[in-house]
Amino acid sequence: MKPKILVTREVFDETLARLSEHFEVESNQGDTPFTADELVARLADKQYVLSSSSDRFDAALLDRCPNLKAVCNIAVGYNNIDLPACTARGVMATNTPGVLTETTADFAWALLLAAARRLPDADTWLRAGNWKRVRLKDFLGIDVHHATLGIVGMGRIGQAVARRARGFDMRVLYTNRNRLPSDIERECNATYVSRTELLQNADFVSLHLPYSPENHHVIGAQQLAQMKRGAVLINVARGGVVDDAALVAALQSGHLAAAGLDVFENEPRLNPGFLGLRNVVLAPHIGSSSSATRLNMTLLATRNAVAALTGTPPNLLNPDVLKQQKGA
Ligand code: DGY
Repeated sequence: MKPKILVTREVFDETLARLSEHFEVESNQGDTPFTADELVARLADKQYVLSSSSDRFDAALLDRCPNLKAVCNIAVGYNNIDLPACTARGVMATNTPGVLTETTADFAWALLLAAARRLPDADTWLRAGNWKRVRLKDFLGIDVHHATLGIVGMGRIGQAVARRARGFDMRVLYTNRNRLPSDIERECNATYVSRTELLQNADFVSLHLPYSPENHHVIGAQQLAQMKRGAVLINVARGGVVDDAALVAALQSGHLAAAGLDVFENEPRLNPGFLGLRNVVLAPHIGSSSSATRLNMTLLATRNAVAALTGTPPNLLNPDVLKQQKGA
């Protein structure tokens, strides 16, 4: 008999076919996410789960899923999973790093360019039938070329964003928990500075750090005030690293010229203040959403689940769990 896996959200047919080679699969291919109680009920007879970043695996839920052996997240971020709680209960946790790096970096640039050049605002205005003549001062934007880009969080995605800045002849500053080796700094053409220095000097600030309690509101009212007047903030990282109410205020006052946001506090119920602002470009958490990349994320999560059947998954987040694996 094959082991059982639950797929919590819609995936691709190819993903389900691949999973079916190894597992008895139950999948939620509808549009409604499981509540915590539904998740527990569905997992009662499952050992494995392919999860999305909106499914919470905390200690309370894990306690109610005694048969669970692995949580395989279809996301690089894993702030929805309590890793110590998984480890303590012998549950492996995995994510999908690497496969989404370039696609997410592309999207940070899409937001940056759209925000700087006011593209969604111009598109909405034109579709509403407002365009009567060409005027010199229509939709005056901000130059991206030769500006200073500040990257907060210089992991894979931050580095990929920095590499793209070469094409725009930009100066790149970065801040990170640890300074990068000099060969990577050279490759990214990026200069290591303090966070304050970065905020005070960058024309564009792009966030690429994971959410954790330590990173909660790392960009709040005080940090926004440190940014240059007329600067632009880009966030494709995680909601919660920015204080959204403070950001709305900074955009309303004009201290920030614009923002491009793919992630929010309390997704999908974003701060309504954003909706009334024309100087913010909003996207529904689609940074990694190209057909190829989203498929690859599900296939990597599948590889992790299959590897968990017999050994160590390639993207195991809590290696200590191997010491106390269930049924080992
Ligand atoms: C990720 O991979 O973390 C994306 O943000 C999708 O949740």
